[in-house]
Amino acid sequence: MTIDFDYKGVPHTLDPWSASQDRYDSMVYRRVGNSGLILPAISLGLWYNFGDNRPFDIQREVLRHAFDHGITHFDLANNYGPPYGSAEENFGRMMRSDFRPYRHELTISSKAGWDMWPGPNGQLGSRGYLLSSLEDSLRRLSIDYVDIFYSHRFDPATPLEETIGALATAVQLGHARYVGISSYSAEHTAEAKEIADRAGIPLVIHQPSYSLLNRWIESGLTEQLRSAGMGAISFTALAQGLLTDRYATEDAADIDRATSRPTFADDAVTDEVLAKIRGLKTIAAARGQSLAQMALAWVLRDPVVASTLIGASSVAQLDENLGALDNLDFSDDELRSIDEYATEAGIDLWRESSDL
Ligand SMILES: NC(=O)c1ccc[n+]([C@@H]2O[C@H](COP(=O)([O-])OP(=O)(O)OC[C@H]3O[C@@H](n4cnc5c(N)ncnc54)[C@H](OP(=O)(O)O)[C@@H]3O)[C@@H](O)[C@H]2O)c1
Repeated sequence: MTIDFDYKGVPHTLDPWSASQDRYDSMVYRRVGNSGLILPAISLGLWYNFGDNRPFDIQREVLRHAFDHGITHFDLANNYGPPYGSAEENFGRMMRSDFRPYRHELTISSKAGWDMWPGPNGQLGSRGYLLSSLEDSLRRLSIDYVDIFYSHRFDPATPLEETIGALATAVQLGHARYVGISSYSAEHTAEAKEIADRAGIPLVIHQPSYSLLNRWIESGLTEQLRSAGMGAISFTALAQGLLTDRYATEDAADIDRATSRPTFADDAVTDEVLAKIRGLKTIAAARGQSLAQMALAWVLRDPVVASTLIGASSVAQLDENLGALDNLDFSDDELRSIDEYATEAGIDLWRESSDL
């Protein structure tokens, strides 16, 4: 047993841990566009379940289990928590205690764009905000570079040259290996890619919301990514937990969420939405999958979506979601049946507000 001091000087005990020798046996890996970046088909996001609101022992159990099952990609952002910054601090603690020997096997991402600190310079896409935020993220994460640094949302006021120029500086400083953009429209993605190409930096990945109930990327973005040689990693493929068996079978008010989410309101679960998820659950059952498993397999059906993020508050959820990999293929008949229910459900919070 050794003692670790975090960057604020707080002591923690460390128990020794080694990753499973079999960790690469069952995961599927996919290439991001035409780049050299290879991600697990299922990646783990740390938005809501890894802040100071959750016991560290559970976080550690989920993170160890993920890596032991081939999840090499962990997705963070400056303001994941709650409180803001705490998910990066907790992941930094994992880096020091468990993951340090495996640093080169890991793909760790962070982002800046949403609100992080008070005042006009604590969000959006200015050079000052992005680069200061990345320095803070590296300190919290206890690493000296991230594998991917994202502009978390399009900034309609700052010139795109400045935002992408800040990503270029992050690469040139050695603070980021690849860069990405999140929730940018097809048009702004094309502009960002042109600027990045001129600067000679690897803008290889786009992180959009995408699910059975939110298909906006199919109207132009996926084509744009393909033609630019970029790839995508989808977020909220489970619609923040809605596309799971429990919402198809239980009353929303009776469901005990691990973390309350200001971004998810039970009243979004209308009768119309419930009819869609019950219809989809029936199709999933005929495929031998849970609704969550089919929802993840479905976003991966187009290879331009290299990986899908998931959130998980327990090892049981993680295991169920990893089970999606057992059946990633869809027949034409299945896709046609899914299309009847997989229609816009008004649950995407990111598209309108982030790309004006
Ligand atoms: N770029 C962006 O702007 C952006 C925005 C949002 C998210 N993201 C990224 O995407 C990641 C995933 O987002 P998300 O957490 O909203 O995605 P999600 O995968 O759609 O939802 C995850 C939540 O669903 C529930 N869940 C997961 N698996 C389940 C299962 N098998 N059965 C029942 N419930 C299950 C859990 O809720 P409970 O916690 O209640 O158990 C879990 O926290 C984030 O961590 C982040 O990395 C990026």
